[in-house]
Amino acid sequence: MSLGGNKQIQLHDFKPGLEQFYADVLDGLRKQQKELPCKYFYDDKGSRLYEQICNLDEYYIPYTEVTIMETNIEEMAKLLGPEALLIEYGSGSSTKTRILLDHLYRLTAYIPVDISHEQLLRVTERLTLDYPGLDVFPVCADFTGNFELPTVNHTFKRRVVYFPGSTIGNLDPVRVKGILENIAAICGQDGGILVGVDLKKDQAVLHSAYNDDQGVTAAFNLNMLERINRELDCDFRLECFEHRAFYNPKEGRVEMHLVSLKDQAVHLNGVTITFTHGESIWTESSYKYNIDEFEQIAVAAGLKVEHVWTDERRWFSVQYLVNDSTAVPSS
Ligand code: AVJ
Repeated sequence: MSLGGNKQIQLHDFKPGLEQFYADVLDGLRKQQKELPCKYFYDDKGSRLYEQICNLDEYYIPYTEVTIMETNIEEMAKLLGPEALLIEYGSGSSTKTRILLDHLYRLTAYIPVDISHEQLLRVTERLTLDYPGLDVFPVCADFTGNFELPTVNHTFKRRVVYFPGSTIGNLDPVRVKGILENIAAICGQDGGILVGVDLKKDQAVLHSAYNDDQGVTAAFNLNMLERINRELDCDFRLECFEHRAFYNPKEGRVEMHLVSLKDQAVHLNGVTITFTHGESIWTESSYKYNIDEFEQIAVAAGLKVEHVWTDERRWFSVQYLVNDSTAVPSS
């Protein structure tokens, strides 16, 4: 693809195809507790809705994380070290990344990995214009699945994986351990992981963060059904489903569901799926941790928590994890 400037953008594409989407949707809707994988929120419309969520007063994550980054960026830059290759999981709008791009010493290249194809292209184009000296190698992929990182012919001293925004909170703790192990292997002994981890807090704060007054989160949630209608042969009636989000204290997570407002049937490519009144489709989990709970998972993944930065209210944390060379492999 050729863009206004003189740089060519080479997008490495591992985006799940329509067949995969259909198989995942059918599989999820056939479960006892119906569910849909949250990665499918992020079509172009969903990515734009998520950006709107990030501007809501109730949604404390982005502004809290930015404050933590801005307050501690010098210390972070020192810890991460010069001449890093920066890889980002779930890069989205790459807003927070700019703080790193502005402050890391002699960064050699940036590899944003995201499932939202259109947004990834838009963001890469902008970054290429705003950072003319930086090489950006976008990868469109579900970072929990199989994909390859592009080989960059740059010299770099270490790989740093940036995993901000509490995106890691979408995975259950067992999968967190797995993905941390994968990332640790990518980083090797000299690299590290800079990860944004949301913390446990007053349930009322969590409740309003996922039930905003303007209904943007509800629209984001319902867009999942809209997308299925748009891309697959399906007839969800959006007015017959309702957004519901609540904190589940036992599991330590906010759950988002779409609740059926009546007994009804939906047709997906010739397959009939029935819903009873009040039955839900589980669309997302957002796990919240205590600092020590997250450390336990990191340690189980063979990592060491090198540094934890938090805000004054202790609502969010940014943590730097490195391979623990003294760890004994667990299996
Ligand atoms: C993008 C996964 C961090 O779980 O808080 C926002 C997505 N869902 N409002 C989160 C989301 C509902 C968000 N993450």
